[in-house]
Amino acid sequence: MSGSPSPTVAVLLGSDSDLPKLQGCFEALESLGIAYEVRLLSAHRSPEALEEFVAQAPSRGTRVFLCAAGGAAHLAGTVAARTVLPVIGIPVEGPPLGGLDALLSTVQMPGGVPVATVGVGGGGPKNAGLLAARMLALADEDLARRLTEERSRMASAVLEKDRAIREKRGRGR
Ligand code: RP5
Repeated sequence: MSGSPSPTVAVLLGSDSDLPKLQGCFEALESLGIAYEVRLLSAHRSPEALEEFVAQAPSRGTRVFLCAAGGAAHLAGTVAARTVLPVIGIPVEGPPLGGLDALLSTVQMPGGVPVATVGVGGGGPKNAGLLAARMLALADEDLARRLTEERSRMASAVLEKDRAIREKRGRGR
């Protein structure tokens, strides 16, 4: 038996051109010690392989899907139509429409087929990783503790910056 845990998060990409945009997502998952796998599976270009992967994923340990795609971004919706596991859509920015196309394609799902959609660019990919972590933490106390610690570190960093700004400008201004 392999020593590494089976991945609980499947990160699916519509194209290898999406990969560089997902660094924040990978970092969030890694910082929390969450095992994940990354697969290039396009709703449009390799639909049969995508369908097969989604059908087999639960028995391989997948608990949450993260689906990143740009343009006519149908990846998250296609996955959500084929599973009852949670699906988080990551709309990817890119030319010529800048990501609004992907955002609307991902978020505007019909009732009955939910996709939790994060923002385009910025903190979106990172938040996808953190949202997956929160879902997994419902059944993992240790992970819940790591999330709480991470949030405390974030708050401390903001308070420290606030203190530095006030000191520089003089208190009360
Ligand atoms: C989408 O089309 C992909 O997710 C990607 O964001 C976009 C462009 O894909 P490439 O032409 O770069 O492969 O399906």
